[in-house]
Formats: sequence, structure tokens, C-alpha cells
Amino acid sequence: MAFRSCVGVVLLGCLVLASAAGPKPKGRKPVNPPVRTIAENERKAEQEAEITNDCPEDGFFADAEQCDKYYECRGGTIIEKLCPDGMVFNDYSPQEEKCDLPFNLDCSARPKLQTPIPALHCPRQNGYFSHEDPKECGKFYYCVDGKFNMITCPDGLVYNDKTGICTWPDEAKKKGCGAAEVFAFDCPPVNETFGLTHPRYADPEDCQFFYVCINGNTPRRSGCKLGQAFDDVNKKCEWARKVPECADWYKGQLTDAELEALENPPTPKPKPAGSAPSRRKPMRPHKAKAVEVDADEE
Ligand SMILES: *[C@@H]1O[C@H](CO)[C@@H](O)[C@H](O)[C@H]1NC(C)=O
Repeated sequence: MAFRSCVGVVLLGCLVLASAAGPKPKGRKPVNPPVRTIAENERKAEQEAEITNDCPEDGFFADAEQCDKYYECRGGTIIEKLCPDGMVFNDYSPQEEKCDLPFNLDCSARPKLQTPIPALHCPRQNGYFSHEDPKECGKFYYCVDGKFNMITCPDGLVYNDKTGICTWPDEAKKKGCGAAEVFAFDCPPVNETFGLTHPRYADPEDCQFFYVCINGNTPRRSGCKLGQAFDDVNKKCEWARKVPECADWYKGQLTDAELEALENPPTPKPKPAGSAPSRRKPMRPHKAKAVEVDADEE
């Protein structure tokens, strides 16, 4: 973007002047102290000329080198600003003063950043950060103003540093967090033709789950609905009572009545207030979406 670098380069010059005459710029000192050899009015004229050249409009402009630094041009003055630590300036529109988490912004042309202000579990004050233990593939921290929240990816997913979301281990490509490390499951060797059908196999440890072997060799764990089990003969999810080796899988977790209700949902009718206790509890989150840790993960 031509204007960005233009602004960045010339703004340094403007700042020198603005610091002497304009309203105090916040934060950093300009690189060079203002030179006091030019007469005040001459300098004012020069400043105005330069600013009308360099600030064609009021608004917010990215620094040419530092992704979290930007300038506000307002009524002919330029104010240097910094995003909160961990966020970067989004320069999609000069009318918007917007700092964002860096995931969808390209900072490659202006890679510098302010000095980090770390806090517990937060390498910077704001952002998503991997767990310190590289073996904790599915855990990460969400930091806001230096306060952390630990978040756990849904079962079988790995926190992906680059995108800030939970993804399949083979997509996250995180060292020590590959499909082989995350899943205690090896895809059985198959020929190439069969591999292309992405064969499915029951999870030997958990009746509700199964593995899809992408191209026959990369396992991804997937689950059946609550009350169902993976039928390894027919390669599909089926009500647990119909899968011989899993018929008792939900014993202790769900009552027969609850299982029956899952299989044949009662037709909704007006419910008398304060009737049967809620059946919601055993629901497990299966969406490919981050869920808060602690609470209902078993
Ligand atoms: C590949 O494997 C499948 C299943 O084991 C088998 O039915 C098929 O004939 C094999 N194809 C080739 C080309 O070997």
C-alpha cells in the first residue's frame, strides 16, 4: 500500500514538528528533538504545508514498520498511538480506529511490535497463547488485559497457534501434537484405492467415538450422538442397544427412560411447570468450537 509507507516515512518528520507546536503527542519521543533554529512562524507555515501534504484527510494511518503503531491525523495534527499490547492496528479504513488480534491481519510488511508486557500465562497482555507445556496440545490461554482464561479444545482437536482456533491435529501441524500423538490410534494399512474412501473404525476405547482415516492414513476422531455407538460392522452410528459390544455403554450415565427418550423424542406438548428434572446434563459439546474448560468436561 503506497500511502502507508508514505505516511510512515513522512510522519516521522511531522512528529518532530508536531511535538513542538501541536498538542502533545502521547507516548514516545520523536527521534530527533525539534530544531529551534527556524523562526516560529516560518516553522508553523512549513508544518502546515507538510501536514496538508502528508495527512490528506483526517483519520487513522498505519505506521510503516510497526504493526501495532498508528497515527491519528486530526485537524492538521498528528498523534502517534499504540494498540494495547498483543493487538495490532487494522488499517482497513482510515475512518476506523481499530486494533485487532493479529490472526487475520498481515503484518509481514510492518513486522515490528512494541516490547511485550507479559503476565501469568500471557506472553502479551492480549491474545490467544499456547499452553506452556507443549504436550498440552488442546489447551490454550485467552488473555485480556493481562488476565488469562484457560480454554480446552473439544476432544481430539489441537490448538493451532497460527490461526488461534482448534483444528484437527493434521491441520494444526504442531510439533508433538500430530495425529499419532494426540490419538492412541493407528490407521490400519490399506491400499490406496480403499484409502480414498476415508475408512472409519470404531474407537477401541469409547463406544460413542470412531476414527475417520483421511486418505487411509491420518486419523481424526469423531463422535456419534449421545445414546448412539459406532457400529464397526456397518460402519455407522447406531443406537447403542443395537450394537452388541456396546449395548451397555451408557449404563450409569443415562437411564433406560432417558435412552428411550433420545431414540424416540417425545412429541413436544405443553409442559406443566416444575415437572421432571432437566435431562440436559449428559450432553457433551461436540461442536468444533472452543469450549470453556472446567465446568462440564468430564
Ligand atoms: C483394496 O482393498 C480393498 C479392501 O481391502 C479390496 O476390496 C480391494 O480389492 C483392494 N484393491 C486393490 C486395487 O488392491
